[in-house]
Amino acid sequence: MSMSPEGIFFTRGAIIKDNRPLSFEYVPDKLPFREDKLRELSIKYRPLLYSGIPQHVAMTGPVGTGKTVVARRFSELLTEAGIEAGVCIKVVYVNCRQRKTDSMVLLGVLNQFDEHFPDRGFSKQEMLRIIKKHMTKSRCHLLVILDEADVLLKKSGSDLIYNFTRFQEEHDTPYSVSTILISQKNPLNFLDPSTLSTFKRTNLLHFGKYNWEALKTIVEQRIELAFYPGVVDPDIPDLIADMSEETGDARFAIELLGRAAEIAEERGEERVTPEHARAAKALTKPYIFEDLLNTLNIHQQIQLLAAARLLKHKSYTTTGELESEYRVLCEELSKKPLGHTQFWQYLKELDAQGVITTRRSGKGVVGNTTQITIADIPAEEIIRYLEKRLLSK
Ligand SMILES: Nc1ncnc2c1ncn2[C@@H]1O[C@H](COP(=O)(O)OP(=O)(O)O)[C@@H](O)[C@H]1O
Ligand SMILES: [Mg+2]
Repeated sequence: MSMSPEGIFFTRGAIIKDNRPLSFEYVPDKLPFREDKLRELSIKYRPLLYSGIPQHVAMTGPVGTGKTVVARRFSELLTEAGIEAGVCIKVVYVNCRQRKTDSMVLLGVLNQFDEHFPDRGFSKQEMLRIIKKHMTKSRCHLLVILDEADVLLKKSGSDLIYNFTRFQEEHDTPYSVSTILISQKNPLNFLDPSTLSTFKRTNLLHFGKYNWEALKTIVEQRIELAFYPGVVDPDIPDLIADMSEETGDARFAIELLGRAAEIAEERGEERVTPEHARAAKALTKPYIFEDLLNTLNIHQQIQLLAAARLLKHKSYTTTGELESEYRVLCEELSKKPLGHTQFWQYLKELDAQGVITTRRSGKGVVGNTTQITIADIPAEEIIRYLEKRLLSK
């Protein structure tokens, strides 16, 4: 088979084995640090599974805390448990950012039963009746997951959710409709009192920001799933956890991992290194690097250059190492080095400005070394810029 010269760009890279686990739609079998949420949900939906009694749950929390992926994984587990128990539970996932009105949501539900259902010409009440017919025919209960529910609730009010919660009474049927409402803000605040009354016994599940440990574990899982063995520097999970700890956002962490790998592949390299992760992070920060450097005094610039030189080929350095490298550089520049206390003072300012990141060394390490890294800018870029600025004078 002959290939055009351009075809060479399609050659499989040496790093990414499978792109799917790096996408946001991917649902891993295991969700570290969210097992408790899956357990809670399973317990809440037992009455549906074993007695057909509908359940209504709301999930809230900031972006990237696993609300959507937990709901998706839960729906897989619930469907499987239904099959085992001889109960059909049909789960329909609706993103309300894409389906903002009651009719559009109902259409989404109907399309799960009948993909050719016409997309106009039926009233809400008619659509609800047709849904009931499908449920009766297939003998299925229904669970509707309304993701980004606040968009629907703001635009269309809580009528539809009211209809769902009263489905069995209104349509006189043994098959029930359950709901899961997902939203960053508490979706119960948007419900009118009559709808809220059915939701009262509902528990609200809150998803908190992920901590460092959780982010690290989530990144490790994706490395395992998406990459060839041994191509990712072992410090990458720590580094990415450092970079995303502030937001506690797993989406951001996975995005950084994916971008770092892309950068490595684009450069034709065979391993994902700390420099690639820093370059990935730099892409997310629109600030002008030069403007930032202009706010630093000469000693801080020397400190930063020293750090960059040490970190060009590794993830972390220590304060001890940094201080000696700084002294070497001062000599090169014929500058009198700062005393230890002042050195520390300036370093702390760099940390506060987010130019460098410091962390007290973790468990198992004796003493109290402080680990230092640069999280936002590739060390290479800092070196290039600062050497020009400091050494050419
Ligand atoms: N506990 C977890 N384990 C593995 N991956 C996770 C976990 N939590 C979130 N993710 C992943 O992080 C990204 C963001 O999660 P998502 O569920 O979309 O967050 P939210 O809906 O709260 O904004 C997705 O790619 C998701 O698969
Ligand atoms: Mg989501």
